[in-house]
Amino acid sequence: MNEMGASVDAVGIVLAAGRGSRMRSRKPKPLHRAAGKELIRYPIELLLACGVERIVVVISPENRDAIRGLIGDSVQYAVQPAPNGTGDALACGLAALSGSPSVVVALSGDTPLVRPDSVRKLIDEHRGNAGRCMTILSATDVFAGDLGRIQRSSAKEPVGAGPVTGIVEAADLPDATPGPAEVNTGVYCFGGLWLAETIGSIRPAASGEFYLTALAAIAADSGDDVAALPIALADEAMGVNDRKQLAAAETVLRDRINLHWMESGVTIIDTATTYIDADVKIGCDTVLLPNTMLSGETVIGEDCEVGPNATVRDTVIGDRCRIIASVLEESGVESDVDIGPYSHLRPGSLIETGVHLGNYVEVKNSRIGADTAAGHFSYLGDADIGVGVNIGAGTITCNYDGVDKHRTVIGDGAFIGSDTMLVAPVTVGDGAATGAGAVVIRDVPEARRAVGVPARLLPPPEKGQG
Ligand code: UD1
Ligand code: CA
Repeated sequence: MNEMGASVDAVGIVLAAGRGSRMRSRKPKPLHRAAGKELIRYPIELLLACGVERIVVVISPENRDAIRGLIGDSVQYAVQPAPNGTGDALACGLAALSGSPSVVVALSGDTPLVRPDSVRKLIDEHRGNAGRCMTILSATDVFAGDLGRIQRSSAKEPVGAGPVTGIVEAADLPDATPGPAEVNTGVYCFGGLWLAETIGSIRPAASGEFYLTALAAIAADSGDDVAALPIALADEAMGVNDRKQLAAAETVLRDRINLHWMESGVTIIDTATTYIDADVKIGCDTVLLPNTMLSGETVIGEDCEVGPNATVRDTVIGDRCRIIASVLEESGVESDVDIGPYSHLRPGSLIETGVHLGNYVEVKNSRIGADTAAGHFSYLGDADIGVGVNIGAGTITCNYDGVDKHRTVIGDGAFIGSDTMLVAPVTVGDGAATGAGAVVIRDVPEARRAVGVPARLLPPPEKGQG
């Protein structure tokens, strides 16, 4: 056993070759996202978190390229030629293995809410019983809906107690089955040898599909040791079969993520309107104000204030920044920066320490040097702007000539007058200045001033004059 409690010779098999037809989507179901993360990544990361490092993902001819493209070579793949049921999918996964591992952990590609803690307990329970052939992770006290029901021999025992006799699919239940139910989460541990010997005995159900769940009755009927562990919390059992369930899973994940960050020292003013993707990271004492959406690979440092009304995607932000009512995409923001309200960082922007971007400033594919200020409505695109520059209100880098994009370079300490048009390619040297309303079509050398339309250089200042 390793420190996670799982055996290194456990193998995980993730079933993701179903049709996913209830999603009514052109996109394969495993690639739909919850909390910004593709559904298929949840079971894979869960297995890794449980110390199960050898993983086989069962894919279909239709979704194989998309899933392989996303997950890459860190796992093994098995293709199920046709969606003949979960039992057939598990058989395909097993066939891809050389030799029998002592434990096979099987789970679905569409149950992103299962917690690693529950699966660790399942594996421990399974391994703690020598000769156990199948252990099912189940949940009681849930809205059973379309989930399979665990059947036990004695109806007199409380729900979740008594020997397991089988699993019945919701669709195969007699109408209006009353009373509380114990449901199948779709996570199982199997004895590797038993599974290899038994998987071929599944007979097709009325639907013609081979149900993995039939293995429970096969084991019980031959007197083999099968058990269900009813420890999953109600929300863990929810699968994602349609868009309604996808939204429900999203809500549960969002609550869990918000809770995690609050427990880690982040203040969230309004959890109902704060949306944080699964892979986002946030530093201590940062405050998130209402209507804030942090997505993708965003990282936010300590002591920041983000929102209200901020959207930050795939952006790394340092410490002590203030982002108000702005949109930041694929950019980098160093520390002590304030942005907004109503500014927009488009991809490829680097905002250095101490910068102030005020109202209605759009930056694209540009570097804004430390301590530079652009306080009011500007477009800064394809620009390299130095340290300590003042960008006057209404400044625009005219980067596009109708055919090509060109760069604007502004040196350290330059002063760009209000309403300056910088017609790229153009360079304004260190310490140079432009007058209000200047249309700059030629370079302005270091420490010189350019004014007018088109801008012309003023004579260099006399020695001793400013
Ligand atoms: C399944 C279980 C049900 C359980 C529920 C938990 C069966 C028969 N039923 O029902 O008892 O309560 O999960 O969420 O197993 N798949 C394949 N190949 C196939 C069919 C399915 O790889 O031919 C994959 C799917 O992509 C999916 C998983 O297996 O990730 C489960 O299949 P799905 O059709 O969603 O089963 P459920 O009806 O949800
Ligand atoms: Ca399902």
